[in-house]
Amino acid sequence: MQPAAPPSAYDQALRPQFHFTARTNWINDPNGLFYYKGTYHMFFQHNPDGIDWGNMTWGHAVSSDLVHWRQLDNTLTPDALGTMFSGSAVVDWQNTAGLQKGKTPTIVLFYTAAGGTSPASAGTPFTQCMAYSTDGGVTFSKYIGNPLIAEIAGGNRDPKVVWDEAGKRWLLALYLDGDKFELLHSTDLLHWHKLQSIALQGCDECPDIFPMTTHRSGRQYWVMTAANGHYVVGEMVDGKFVFQGAPAIGDYGPNFYAVQSWSDIPRSDGRRIQISWMRGGQYPGMPFNGQMSFPSVLKLHHDAAGLWLSRWPVREISHLYAGKQEWRDVKLTSNTPITLTPATGQWDISLKVKCPVGSTFTVAVNGHEITYSSSSKTLTSMNSTAPLTLRRGILTLRVLADVTSLEVYGDMGRVSLTGCVLPVADAPGLSVKCTGGPAEVLSMTAHALNSAWSPAH
Ligand code: FRU
Repeated sequence: MQPAAPPSAYDQALRPQFHFTARTNWINDPNGLFYYKGTYHMFFQHNPDGIDWGNMTWGHAVSSDLVHWRQLDNTLTPDALGTMFSGSAVVDWQNTAGLQKGKTPTIVLFYTAAGGTSPASAGTPFTQCMAYSTDGGVTFSKYIGNPLIAEIAGGNRDPKVVWDEAGKRWLLALYLDGDKFELLHSTDLLHWHKLQSIALQGCDECPDIFPMTTHRSGRQYWVMTAANGHYVVGEMVDGKFVFQGAPAIGDYGPNFYAVQSWSDIPRSDGRRIQISWMRGGQYPGMPFNGQMSFPSVLKLHHDAAGLWLSRWPVREISHLYAGKQEWRDVKLTSNTPITLTPATGQWDISLKVKCPVGSTFTVAVNGHEITYSSSSKTLTSMNSTAPLTLRRGILTLRVLADVTSLEVYGDMGRVSLTGCVLPVADAPGLSVKCTGGPAEVLSMTAHALNSAWSPAH
C-alpha cells in the first residue's frame, strides 16, 4: 500500500501541474501502457521506499483522458526472481493464452524479473515474466509458469509485446545488450520463439514496436523505437522486420527517455500515443523524483525527406484550458521587444512567426529562452538544438510549459525538444523579441492551464 497522501500532496513549489509524478519517491520508465474500457492505464518504474532509484516495483496510475491521473496501489513487487524492471501490456481479446474467466478479456503484463538486484534474487539471471488480470485491470497475479523467457544475454530486459494482425501472432521486442535487440514471436503469449536479431545504432533499452500507416497514403509500415526515442521505419517482409539506415532522432531535448506507446487504443480513435520519462530532471527538496512527458500522438509521414515521424501533444490538453489570450500581426524589431505578463505560469502556447533571412527570433516562456536562428536553421531550447528549415520563412512553434518542464514542438511536431527546467525567479510569463531583421508575429495564442491535480487524486 502507498502511504496516505497528505492533502497538499500535489501543490509543492516544484511539482509539475500537468505532467504525471508519483505522490512520493522515485519514478522512471513508463511501463505496461494499455487502454481498456475508457481508462488509460500507466504503470511505471517506482521505488516505493526511496527518493532515488532502487527496489524496482511497478507503480500504477489511471486516467480517463491522459491528462488527469490517479495513482493506485503498486502492482508488481519484487520476488525471488528479482526486482520488477520495465515491460509492457496487451489486452488478450481473443483469449490466445487461455487464461480468460467469463466475458472479460485477460490483460497481460510482461516485465523483466531483474535477478541479482535484490538479496532475495541473488545469483538469478534477468528473465522475462508475465502477470495477468482477469478483472479488467483491477488486480493482477503473476503467472505460475514464470519465467516465460530464459536469459538470452546478460542484462536482457524490457519486453514490449504487440499483436501482428497480418501474421496472426504476437511479437515481442526485447533489449539484449550493446545496441542489440531481439524480436520473438508467439501465438499464445506463453511460448516464445526467436524471430530475428536487430541492431539499432546508438540505441539501447526499452524497445517499442508497432504498425503505423502513413498519414496520406494509408500504407502500412512498422516502426521500432528505442529508449532514447530514436526510431526506424520498416516493413514486414516474409514475416521479418526489415528496415534501412540508421535510426532517426525522435526528440532533440535533454530529458526524453524510455519512450513507450499505449496498446489497445480503439480503432475508432486510431492514435499511436507515446509518453516518455523525463530522465535527469531536478526537483530539489521535493518528496517525488521524476516526471513523465506530456503524452503525444505520433504520425508517420512520407515525403521527399523519406519516412519520418512527427509528435504532437494529445488534444485532451484542452481539458485544462483556463483562459486564452491572442495576438495578431505584431511587428518586432531588435529594439521593440514585447513583454506580456499573464498571471499564471503553466502554458500551452502556439506561435506563427515570419522570420526574415538572417534574423534570430526568441520567445521566452517563464524566463526560458527558445531561439530560432534563420541563418543556422536551428531551433534551440534548454541548451539543445534541433535542425529546422522553415517553410516559406514561417516558423510555427508550440510550447508546453509546466513548473519544471518545457516541451517545444517545431513545424507541427516535425522536431521536438523535451526537457526539465527549474523556475526562473521573477520571470515574466512570456516575452518575444527578434534581432537581425524585423520579424512579424502573425499569430500567437497562449492558453493558461489549470492544474491537473485535484484534491480527489
Ligand atoms: C531504462 C531502464 C530499463 C530497466 C529499468 C530499470 O531506464 O534501465 O532498461 O528495465 O530502467 O528501472
